[in-house]
Amino acid sequence: MAEPDELEMADREDTRVEAEGPAETAGGPDSAADSAAGSAGANPLWGGRFASGPAEVMERINASIDFDRRLYAQDIKGSQAHCRMLVRQGILSERDGEAIVAGLDTILREIEAGDFVFEAALEDIHMNIEARLKVLVGEAAGRLHTARSRNDQVATDLRLWVRDEIDALDAALQALQAALLDQAEAHADAIMPGYTHLQPAQPVTFGHHLMAYVEMIGRDRGRFADARIRLNESPLGAAALAGTSFPIDREATAAALGFERPMANSIDAVSDRDFALEFMASGAILALHLSRLAEELVLWCNDGFGFATLSDAYTTGSSIMPQKRNPDAAELVRGKAGRVIGALTALLVVMKGLPLAYGKDMQEDKEPIFDCADTLALSVAAMTGMLRDLEPNRAALARATEAGFITATDLADWLVRALGLPFREAHHVTGEIVRRAEARNCRLEDLPLDELQQVEPRITAAVSEVLSVEQAVASRTSFGGTAPARVREAVAAARKRFL
Ligand code: ARG
Repeated sequence: MAEPDELEMADREDTRVEAEGPAETAGGPDSAADSAAGSAGANPLWGGRFASGPAEVMERINASIDFDRRLYAQDIKGSQAHCRMLVRQGILSERDGEAIVAGLDTILREIEAGDFVFEAALEDIHMNIEARLKVLVGEAAGRLHTARSRNDQVATDLRLWVRDEIDALDAALQALQAALLDQAEAHADAIMPGYTHLQPAQPVTFGHHLMAYVEMIGRDRGRFADARIRLNESPLGAAALAGTSFPIDREATAAALGFERPMANSIDAVSDRDFALEFMASGAILALHLSRLAEELVLWCNDGFGFATLSDAYTTGSSIMPQKRNPDAAELVRGKAGRVIGALTALLVVMKGLPLAYGKDMQEDKEPIFDCADTLALSVAAMTGMLRDLEPNRAALARATEAGFITATDLADWLVRALGLPFREAHHVTGEIVRRAEARNCRLEDLPLDELQQVEPRITAAVSEVLSVEQAVASRTSFGGTAPARVREAVAAARKRFL
C-alpha cells in the first residue's frame, strides 16, 4: 500500500485506500471533526497532512451538506454499486463488501427516518455518509473509497439525481399535456380571436390555441429526453481525474446504475457539468413556455377579456378589495421563469473559463440545479391544476370576434378565388372595405352589398358566405389549421403521440 501521505498528494483528498483510527472515534455528532487521522480539529477523512482544523468561515464556505444532502439516495446507490464491483474484482473482501453494503442500507434508512445527524464539519454528503459508515462497520468503511474520488462520486450522484428529475418531470409534463388535451377537445369548436401583435387577427378556436401548447410541451419533453441520452454515461471510476491503477470494472458499475456506458475520458468525466446545463437550458425553455401560457391566463381572466375563469383553488382574494379574484398562481408561474433562467445563467457563469479538471467552483452547481428542478416541478403542477379547473367562457370568446374585422383575410381570399384578383390587389380592396365598415361602425358582414360594390363592382352576394367567423374557422382545413374538424384530429393524434 502506498503511503497515505503520497496518496493525499496525488489526489489531494481523495483516493484513500484505508482509513486509520479506531471505528468508534469517527462519526458521532461531536467527534467526527476532531478525531482519527489528523491533529485535533483536522478533517478525519483527509486531515492527515493538516496540523490544525479550518477557520470557522472556511468551514462555512466549504460545506455543502446543507444542500447536497439531497443527493443521499444517489450517493448510497453509487457507493453500493462501487463496493460490489470492488468485491467482484477481488479488490475488496466479501466480508468487507457485505458490511459496507449493509451499513449503507442502514444509513439510507436513518436518513429517510430523519435520524441522521448531518455535520458541516464533514463538508458534504459523501463524507457525512462515509463517517457514519465508519461508526457502523468500522475499518471496512475506509476501504470503500478505494479506486474512487469524490470527484467521480459527485459527478455520478448528480447525473443520477438529474436523471431522476428528468423522469419525474416527463411524467408531470405528460399530465400537463393531458389537461391541455382535455380542454382542447371540449372546446375544439369554441371560436375566439386569434391575435398577432395582441390585435385581433383571424378567428381560431380555443382548442386550437391550447393545442399550440401541447406541441410546445411535446418539444420540451423531447429536449429533456435528448439531454437524458447524453447524460446517461457513468463517470464512476474516473477517480480524481486520471483513472486508477486498481483493476476496476467501469462497465459493471455503469450497468448497475442504469447508465448506458462508462464515460470515455476520465478528465471529462469529473470536469463537465454540461449534462446539468442541458437539463437547465431545456428547463429554461419550458419555463418560458409556461410563462407565456400563464400570461395568457392572466389576460383571459381580466374583465376586459373575460375569456375564462380560474377556480377558487388557484386564485386569491385581496385583503382590502373584497371584489378581487387574483390569478396569483398564474402570475407566479410567469415570474418563476425568471428564476429558472437565472439558475441556468448562474451555472453557465460558474463553469465558464474553468480549467480542467475538477475545481471547487463546481460545488456551486448544486443549488441552481436543485432550485431549477424544484421550480419547474412546482410550476408544472400549478399549471396543470389551473388548466384542469379552467372554465372558458365560450360566449365571451365568440363575442370578442365581432370586433376587429377579423374575417378581412377571408374577404381578400374570396376576391382572389372568385374574381381572380392578385392577392396584393385583393388586400387593397379589402382595406378600403374595412375602412367603410369602420366608418359605419359595423361588422364586415353587415355592410350592404352596394357599398361593397362601390369598392369593387364585381363583388356578388356570394361573398357573405365567407364573412362569418364560423365559416372562416371551418374553412381553414389545411394541415395544422384551426377548422374544428382538424383540431379534433390533432387532439386524437396528439393523444397517441404524447400520452
Ligand atoms: N462537495 C464537493 C462538490 O460538490 C464534492 C467533490 C469534492 N472534491 C474535491 N476534490 N474536493 O463538488
